[in-house]
Amino acid sequence: MRHAIVYVSTASNDLKKNEIQDILNHSKEWNNENDVTGLLLFSGGNFFQIIEGEKNKICGLFEDIKLDKRHHNVTQIFGKEIHKEAYDGYDSDFVSDEADYDPEKFQHYLNQIKVLDKSTQKAVENILMAFLPI
Ligand SMILES: Cc1cc2nc3c(=O)[nH]c(=O)nc-3n(C[C@H](O)[C@H](O)[C@H](O)COP(=O)(O)O)c2cc1C
Repeated sequence: MRHAIVYVSTASNDLKKNEIQDILNHSKEWNNENDVTGLLLFSGGNFFQIIEGEKNKICGLFEDIKLDKRHHNVTQIFGKEIHKEAYDGYDSDFVSDEADYDPEKFQHYLNQIKVLDKSTQKAVENILMAFLPI
């Protein structure tokens, strides 16, 4: 049985663009090596993350993430068991408020969540809509 956690958080005020990129790169690499799948987005000073994988691993990782000083207000939206792997890999992205928002990528995120169960899918979709600068 796999477990998924979704949360949003606020980046620390002094976090530089390259430091955000470091978080995204590290997460992508570690998660891919450790069979953790999901999505990490940064937009408008906030993070949105889905982590999905073996339950103990996901809960342990989330404990580490909550202690990370590079963000605060970590608000879990849900944590639940899921029957299928929602993502075939880890996607991490930097979505700025301005020019480089890519509607095709957003569609890609939406397509990926279609494998989640219906109620979870709807919740994630709503959060994504509110989160991204459309
Ligand atoms: C918003 C945010 C999301 C993070 N997501 C992940 C993640 O998905 N995977 C990961 O390995 N580290 C993630 N991290 C980093 C962890 O909090 C922590 O720094 C890392 O697991 C510790 O790695 P280390 O012990 O090798 O230094 C994230 C950090 C932040 C601020």
